[in-house]
This record gives sequence, C-alpha cells and structure tokens, in this order.
Amino acid sequence: MPRPIIIDTDPGQDDAVALLLALAAPEELDVRGITTVAGNVPLELTTRNALMMVELAGRPDIAVYAGCDRPMVRDLITAEYVHGKTGIDGADTPPPRTTPADQHAVEFIIETCRATPGITLCTLGPLTNMGTALEQAPDIAGTIAQLVLMGGGFFEGGNTTPAAEFNIYVDPQAAALVFGSGIDLVMMPLDVTHRALTSDARVDAFRDLGTASGAAVAGMLEFFERYDMERYGTEGAPLHDPTVIAYLLEPGIFDGRRCRVDIETASELTMGMTVVDWWGLTTDEPNCFVVHQIDDERFFALLTERIGLLP
Ligand code: RIB
Ligand code: CA
Repeated sequence: MPRPIIIDTDPGQDDAVALLLALAAPEELDVRGITTVAGNVPLELTTRNALMMVELAGRPDIAVYAGCDRPMVRDLITAEYVHGKTGIDGADTPPPRTTPADQHAVEFIIETCRATPGITLCTLGPLTNMGTALEQAPDIAGTIAQLVLMGGGFFEGGNTTPAAEFNIYVDPQAAALVFGSGIDLVMMPLDVTHRALTSDARVDAFRDLGTASGAAVAGMLEFFERYDMERYGTEGAPLHDPTVIAYLLEPGIFDGRRCRVDIETASELTMGMTVVDWWGLTTDEPNCFVVHQIDDERFFALLTERIGLLP
C-alpha cells in the first residue's frame, strides 16, 4: 500500500525536484496534498511554482493548498539571491493552468492528519504551517507517524547565519513547536545535504532523459547551483530537499543517529540554531533521527531513474 504523505514546501528549485521525485512514485507514495509556505520566495510564488510542478509531472489528481504567508513571530526573509525572482528560475515551464484549492493549508493539514492516523509529513521549507497546525490542534501530534524535514545543521554550521540554516532561521518559533511536539522526527541537515552535490555529469543525466521534466530539472539545477558554487567554492551545489523524499523511497541510502535536538529562539546571535546533542551530553530524551551520511551515487541514480518516469 502506498504511504500517505503531505508535502509542505517553498519551491525553490530543490523543492521542485523533490516534488517531481514524489509525484513519480505513485506506487510507494500516496501524496494526499501539497501545502505551500512563504520561504525561498513569497507565498504567491511558492504556490504558483508548486502548481507548475504538479502540471509538469502530469498529476492533476494532486491538490495544492496555500498556507502561511509569513512566519509565526518574526518578519519573513526570502532567498531570491539563491533561487532567482520566480523561485524556480531555469525551469522554463509554462505558467500554471490550475489554481490552488480554496482550503487553507493549515486547515487541510489538521483535517487530513485527524482523518489519516499514521500519515507521514514531509517538510521542505520553513515550518510555519506545521507550527501553526500544532498550535491550533496539538492532538495531531498523536496521528502523525513520522515527520521528515530538511532543515538545520550542526557540524556544518549554518547557511543563513553562521549558526542557522534557512528553513529553521526563517521561523525558529515554528521549528521549536515541531521539535517539542513528540512527533517521530527525521532531520536532513546541511551536514548531509552538503554531501549531495550536483555536478555537470549529474545535470547532464537529467537533460539526457529527453523529457520535459528532465529538461526542467537540468535547467533549474544549472541556475540553482551557481550561488553555492561561488559561496563554498565547490564543483556543484547541495541538493537539499530531494533527500527528504529519497529517505522515504530508499532509507538505506542514508545513515545517522538518534539525538536530542533543540532550537535556539532567544539569542539573536544563534537564533534558529539546531542544537544537536550528538555525543549524548545531556539527559534530555532524544527526539530526532539526525541524518549524517548519504550514498550520493545511489541518491542521484534514484533521482535520475525516477524523474525519467515523468513526461
Ligand atoms: O537551507 C536550504 C533549505 O532552504 C532548502 O529547503 C531550500 O529550498 C530552502 O528552503
Ligand atoms: Ca525548500
């Protein structure tokens, strides 16, 4: 039976590739809905981009629900400097023909979690929708079997401040609600996504698929990788969000350790830091499986094979 999931996202090129990977796996993943949140770009654009990816994947059966347009407490910060004005620069796909569902994403998350005990949540952006849903309906923590998130960093530090990764930094209060919820968490931090680097050969493999989806992925990655290559001086860019979906499809690609993880929400200097008790120095109960290793060859092979199933 395919696993029921909700994907919460702020597309962003890496989110877009993660969405395509999930939509290419209907035998394994029953995507009950895609919820969008402000993050990489404002909500109107993240919602538009999610609609475009659903249409590109040929999955009109999947609804998109627009969510929160700003963090729970802090002001919104966006990342056009990485993702471009549209958020998915390089995709070169047609504008959406469809529109988002009328229901707010937070209401959809609450309703669907209550109706689907054992559901899995996949979050690819700031945790604003999830934090708001937990604040409005704490009972859903008991219905969610697992929440797999891209966010945080520890040994690798941050990518938005020296201490904080973008998804957590944008809405640390929401992240604190998620990490304090008791839900079984799996965290894909920068420590692992920085080992999932694109390369010319890996981008060419998508273009060589000869499909509209393959061309869109290649175009998006070529745009997306330029910022990180300059910043980190690497040959390619970390492909963050698809690690979340790959974990559901082939968990053996990854390895990590159950740890206690807490979120800094007081100090401006370390705001949004994921404080990972990797060496078990506190007596606090571990609350998260922190992924630290990835077989990047298997990861990109999975991505290319599955994206190749799309139109
Ligand atoms: O820090 C990387 C994360 O922030 C990714 O999810 C990227 O899409 C942005 O949302
Ligand atoms: Ca994202």
